[in-house]
Amino acid sequence: MNPADHASNDDSSEAWSFDTQAVRAGVMRSNFGEHGEAMFLTSSFVHESAAHAAAKFANEAPGFIYSRFGNPTVQMFQDRLAALECAQACLATASGMSAIMACLMSLTKSGDHVVCSQSVFGTTIQLFDLFARYGVSTTYVPVNDPQAWAAAIQPNTRMLYLETPSNPMTELADVGAIGEIARAKGVKLVVDNCFCTPALQQPLKQGADIVIHSATKYLDGQGRVLGGAVLGDRDYIQTVLQPVVRYCGPTLSAFNAWVLLKGLETLSLRMKQHSINALHVAQWLEAQPGIATVLYPGLPSHPQHTLAMAQQTGGGAVLAFEVKADSPQQAKAIAWRVIDQCKLLSITANLGDTKSTITHPASTTHGRMAIERRAQAGITEGLIRIAVGLESPQDICADLARGLNAH
Ligand SMILES: Cc1ncc(COP(=O)(O)O)c(C=O)c1O
Repeated sequence: MNPADHASNDDSSEAWSFDTQAVRAGVMRSNFGEHGEAMFLTSSFVHESAAHAAAKFANEAPGFIYSRFGNPTVQMFQDRLAALECAQACLATASGMSAIMACLMSLTKSGDHVVCSQSVFGTTIQLFDLFARYGVSTTYVPVNDPQAWAAAIQPNTRMLYLETPSNPMTELADVGAIGEIARAKGVKLVVDNCFCTPALQQPLKQGADIVIHSATKYLDGQGRVLGGAVLGDRDYIQTVLQPVVRYCGPTLSAFNAWVLLKGLETLSLRMKQHSINALHVAQWLEAQPGIATVLYPGLPSHPQHTLAMAQQTGGGAVLAFEVKADSPQQAKAIAWRVIDQCKLLSITANLGDTKSTITHPASTTHGRMAIERRAQAGITEGLIRIAVGLESPQDICADLARGLNAH
């Protein structure tokens, strides 16, 4: 590795725009002078001598030791994502869930408390519930009610956790307002930025302390690999979080890091087009007679549209809509019919792909949630979530029309 070729060591890189950082930040070139980022598929690294090994292990000399806690390809991904999120540092993990787990482990211990938004990804709630076993309790509050966040904070609260926009209801948190509450109470605000990505929203600039990513989603953007990341200040990442990842081992592989590095290069273009396509589909859905509500932050009818336009530079790819029905049973039957009639949209709970995906949250992503909690979060039997991809939006609408118009 030639440190002189490490783009983030170059002063000029700090002034680069987002689009340039997405392509260039974090590049480390080996002595071969490769143009594309190299994939370092190695579990360990050799040392020049026993003394050199000892110095590296004692953190007295720089250099990679073992890929569980450091690998050049992973480092390049971390540095590039840190540049995009305006973070001092980043630590990549094997998946989004392992990023959330490592963050939770790093900030809490038995007897501590977390405040979490009611409307987060279902598995995130399962994870927080699992931590009750280890003595960490959680209170759930509405994401869009800053006073409820303030009221839920206890003397043992260590972290506030939210997604904005939320999955699947696209509810927004006012990151600035909740960040102020967190600062006043001395707790960390952690924001899952998976739906918007730094291309549309940079929570650390708005008042968050830590950003979480499921890189599986739009950072890859092409449905290829799993990955995750935690971003924040250097001291937190290196001294608080790093030991958790080093000792527990939920490390991102070099192969996946390489795929994600390539994903970041087109992130900005993709997120702009996802937003354009999703707005088109959302507007079309709003005009259909069989639909009760369409939830998309880019729509003027979205209850938090003004906040969305202030906090985000685009609406993102994800929208949800509810079909009209007389009962929950009928709603579910219609929702399943719309999904089953799709020939273009893929029936999969994943999102963050060039290919549009469609899912019924109440029976998939949020199916394991207690019924009352699901109802509280507004996830009804008639709700459908679409992650709008990069196909022609006209084709997506035609695909949905088949199920909506069938009787
Ligand atoms: C908002 C959000 N956060 C986190 C995750 C978990 O990510 P992963 O599947 O990479 O573990 C998901 C997965 O769908 C998600 O939608």
